Amino acid sequence: MQVIKYAFQQHGDDRGQLIALEEHKDIPFEIKRVYYMYDTQEGVRRGFHAHKSLEQILICIHGSCKILMDNGKEKKIVPLEKPYEGLYISNNIWREMYDFSPDAVLMVLASDYYKEEDYIRDYDEFLRFAEEA
Ligand code: TYD
Repeated sequence: MQVIKYAFQQHGDDRGQLIALEEHKDIPFEIKRVYYMYDTQEGVRRGFHAHKSLEQILICIHGSCKILMDNGKEKKIVPLEKPYEGLYISNNIWREMYDFSPDAVLMVLASDYYKEEDYIRDYDEFLRFAEEA
């Protein structure tokens, strides 16, 4: 499985850093939704789903966390520790997020609105879906 981790351009100067993300330029899709997780409690693991068609970019804009990516054949663990790193997750990838630092803010840019019917929340169903894809 190919892991696509972007290193976004940082506009740094003596005041600090700034990152700008534009759809179809820095982000390979139209951004229809942004959501973020914070105050994640110690030991929490979340996600546990794949998407039929949604694409996402995960950015840990503060603190750190780990992402498990699973394409049904192979699993990869990707640490997110820098606010300028973006992890691309295509459709058909089972993901779990864990090891959140107490100060972690995990922001997600998504290619579509929230649609429960796009979720695959059952791991065996995901394996069947990934096999057919
Ligand atoms: P959930 O799917 O449990 O998050 P995770 O996959 O990270 O474990 O989502 C938590 C709640 O937030 C759930 O009630 C659905 C809601 N939600 C939205 O309303 N819109 C969204 O874009 C997302 C991602 C979740």
